[in-house]
Amino acid sequence: MPPVFLSASNLTDQLAQTQVVIETRIAEILAGQKQKNQLEEAMRYGALAGGKRLRPFLILAAANLFEDDVSNALDTAVALELIHCSSLIHDDLPAMDDDDLRRGQPTCHIQFDEATAILVGDAFLSLTFEMMSTDPKIPPNTRLKLIHVLTLASGRYGMIGGQMDDIEAEKKSLTLDEIISLQQKKTGALFEYACEAGAIIGGATEQQQLALKNYAKHFGLAFQITDDILDVTGSESEVGKRLHKDEEAGKETFVSLIGLEAAQKAALVSINDAKREVAIFGDKAKLLIELVDLLNNRKS
Ligand code: IPE
Ligand code: IPE
Ligand code: MG
Ligand code: MG
Ligand code: MG
Repeated sequence: MPPVFLSASNLTDQLAQTQVVIETRIAEILAGQKQKNQLEEAMRYGALAGGKRLRPFLILAAANLFEDDVSNALDTAVALELIHCSSLIHDDLPAMDDDDLRRGQPTCHIQFDEATAILVGDAFLSLTFEMMSTDPKIPPNTRLKLIHVLTLASGRYGMIGGQMDDIEAEKKSLTLDEIISLQQKKTGALFEYACEAGAIIGGATEQQQLALKNYAKHFGLAFQITDDILDVTGSESEVGKRLHKDEEAGKETFVSLIGLEAAQKAALVSINDAKREVAIFGDKAKLLIELVDLLNNRKS
């Protein structure tokens, strides 16, 4: 695998460059046609049709605090993106949010069919752990640790648990603390994993790991609050998904609970909290700080 450096002169260029690196690696992993069914084609569709690639970027940016060449974090970053893709494909299914547009394209079950979309999500989940368990760039003990932490972040008390809370929230009203907990599980857990994984791969001290974990906690919260805001105020062509879905589904969100203005303020508080956490890294945290700033008034 060639070296991976995050050496662009600004965040926008760096995000664009990293997107190419991530997508090239995904395409490499998903290349070929080994069986006579549509699974592989549908997997390529589910993973390569758009997306900001923020979670893998965050792994690489966190690892970059500790080493210049972050190529040893690349497959963990790709694995996390595949779990994220799996969560989106399942999130869009008729039994969940019933969406027909994702990343500006028809959702996987519209492009193919429901059964295929379910299987693509399942296949990504397995592929994630296949890749991580055989990653030659990571020592076996570290692999096990990275896999273990990802099972927790993506599983019943993490992202999947949050998705269940989210569905149940259609039928009951929640307190602010309950909304925060739901969002930290459904969205925050994978962002936290990104920072934690970067820290593990980079050999961070406990204090550095904690700072990154806290940064990610605030990042994740700001990210989901802005997702809820975009659902109300965004433009469909920029966001690349159907809007006003939360309100239609009667879903309690930050916006429905405290209003648009207070939600915007809450996002800003989390953004500033996140920045404070990574101050211990000095200038090296520039990318992480600029990234969290990007969440403020994001359009997609
Ligand atoms: C969307 O995540 C799902 C949420 C957790 C809100 P992103 O906004 O990161 O989606 P992509 O990957 O860029 O499409
Ligand atoms: C989805 O949350 C979170 C996960 C997929 C884990 P949303 O349902 O709000 O995401 P969008 O708005 O469809 O992207
Ligand atoms: Mg959802
Ligand atoms: Mg959704
Ligand atoms: Mg949403």
